[in-house]
Amino acid sequence: MLEAYTWLGRSLATIGQAGWHRAEKIVQTLSPPFIKVDGLEAINFGSNDYLGLATEYRIKMEAIAAIDQHGTGSTGSRLVTGHRQLHRDLERSIAELKGSQAALVFSSGYLANLGTIAALVNNRDLILADQYNHSSLKNGARLSQATIREYSHNDCQALENLLKQQRRLYRRALILSDGVFSMDGDLCNLPQLLNLSQVYESMLLIDEAHATAVLGGTGGGSVEHWGFSGVEIVQTGTLSKALGSLGGYVAGSATLIDYLRNRAASWIYTTGLSPGDTAAALKAIAIVKEEPEHLQRLRENISYFCNLLGTKAQSPIFPVVLKKTTEATELSLTLLEKGVFVPAIRPPTVPTSRLRISLMAKHEKEHLDYLHELLVRYIQKH
Ligand SMILES: Cc1ncc(COP(=O)(O)O)c(C=O)c1O
Repeated sequence: MLEAYTWLGRSLATIGQAGWHRAEKIVQTLSPPFIKVDGLEAINFGSNDYLGLATEYRIKMEAIAAIDQHGTGSTGSRLVTGHRQLHRDLERSIAELKGSQAALVFSSGYLANLGTIAALVNNRDLILADQYNHSSLKNGARLSQATIREYSHNDCQALENLLKQQRRLYRRALILSDGVFSMDGDLCNLPQLLNLSQVYESMLLIDEAHATAVLGGTGGGSVEHWGFSGVEIVQTGTLSKALGSLGGYVAGSATLIDYLRNRAASWIYTTGLSPGDTAAALKAIAIVKEEPEHLQRLRENISYFCNLLGTKAQSPIFPVVLKKTTEATELSLTLLEKGVFVPAIRPPTVPTSRLRISLMAKHEKEHLDYLHELLVRYIQKH
């Protein structure tokens, strides 16, 4: 290895010594909620496909028809040759689901956050961000070159203190928060965030990645859950979790969306979302709107699992926080050997190692009973 690159090996060794080394596993899709992980069949408790739509027959057929008609790629950026009627239809459908005037579809949720944040603020501005925000919000904030102040997780008093001290020193301010926190499963306190954003004349961006098609009466997300549909909030999210496709979006006022079309670099200078992914997401939203039973099933599973654990939950995400990194990886492996897949999530993704259980509408009660039984056995043994 050339001298200039030798630090890579040393750095990997340090990551390994900390027990943080990661590598992907080969996952085979079976009928949900089942998968094969490294050849072992298991009930999947690690998916973001909360409604099981990624393998839905009607959605697959829409994607195939779109590929048949438009080809596999969009072949250009949206402002040049990559815009199809399908994109417009999907954006209308997202706006309707979100109770907003308009929406813009990006190639991923990550890119939606990067592009939106960097377009809304710059080095004359202030960002206030929850410390547990997703990586895409954190990196979007860095990219923008705004001054970043993090507040402790869900601590609205800390946020208010920061706004009181700092807001007047900057031109614009932007508050950033996950709607549902991806690794903890709790919700941000949207009523308070909204109130503070209004009092301190700040923009508010909520990442709805884990809330869309999961929370709210019609699956509109945490904004709908809290009763703020139609309120001027910048909502970002992904098409790749409960909607089972790929891509991301921003929903908000028509002016915001038109501005982003002209200023969001991660939308302007990249190829439009592929026809297959676009059509799949469009059909998934139609199914969420027309068939509330999927959401209902997921909610029943959440409440059944809460009863088993004797706990309360606000989303399908249940963290099992463990003391040591090795404990998380060992428990995940033990569960896999017993036919249950629950991923171990370790630093730097989270401050404390954990198993992240995620429920799906496709789980049967017996699957939840079995996972519960394995966890109880583990706790009794340790
Ligand atoms: C909270 C949150 N925001 C954004 C993203 C990025 O979405 P995507 O996978 O579409 O890039 C994710 C997940 O990957 C996420 O968990």
